[in-house]
Amino acid sequence: MKEFIKYEEIRNRISELARAIERDYEGKEILILGILKGSFHFVSLLALELNLPTEIEFLKTSSYGESKISSGNVKIEMNSDIQLSKKNVLIVEDIVDTGLTLNKIFGEILFKNPVSLNVCSLLIKKDKHKFLHEIKYYGFEIKDEFVVGFGLDYNEKYRNEKNLYILD
Ligand code: IMP
Repeated sequence: MKEFIKYEEIRNRISELARAIERDYEGKEILILGILKGSFHFVSLLALELNLPTEIEFLKTSSYGESKISSGNVKIEMNSDIQLSKKNVLIVEDIVDTGLTLNKIFGEILFKNPVSLNVCSLLIKKDKHKFLHEIKYYGFEIKDEFVVGFGLDYNEKYRNEKNLYILD
């Protein structure tokens, strides 16, 4: 396991993202829709930094299981009581790898008629992903490597590591 991005650097970048989001959503309320489990630290730090009226909801996806490669078979679990119409929804994701997960989530959320819908991902694999819409906010653009820590797991381990690491 090789150290990749230190916690302090992650925190600084999250502050920068919060400032950009505040500028864009000035005078508006926002609903952060965190994608579990990998985004839970990111959602927490971003929300604490954001100086905007903010609601927080989560949905859960799974596709990887015990593999490092996306199965493409994305399952979404979301509480049907969550009201997204009339909301400025910001999907907060840990990493966009193939983009398959986000394509599916984006489609389902659009179907619920939000006022606006944007994406904020901590990490993106820009040259690899096939997400069909703009990723308006992202923390770091990375190469095609498997990353763990700061919420991201391999087989449910490493989520509690503060730094990000590249897994061999
Ligand atoms: P995608 O559908 O291939 O974009 O993958 C999305 C989900 O797979 C992410 O939200 C992560 O939970 C997981 N994932 C993708 N790449 C990595 C990685 O490098 N480390 C840990 N999890 C990953």
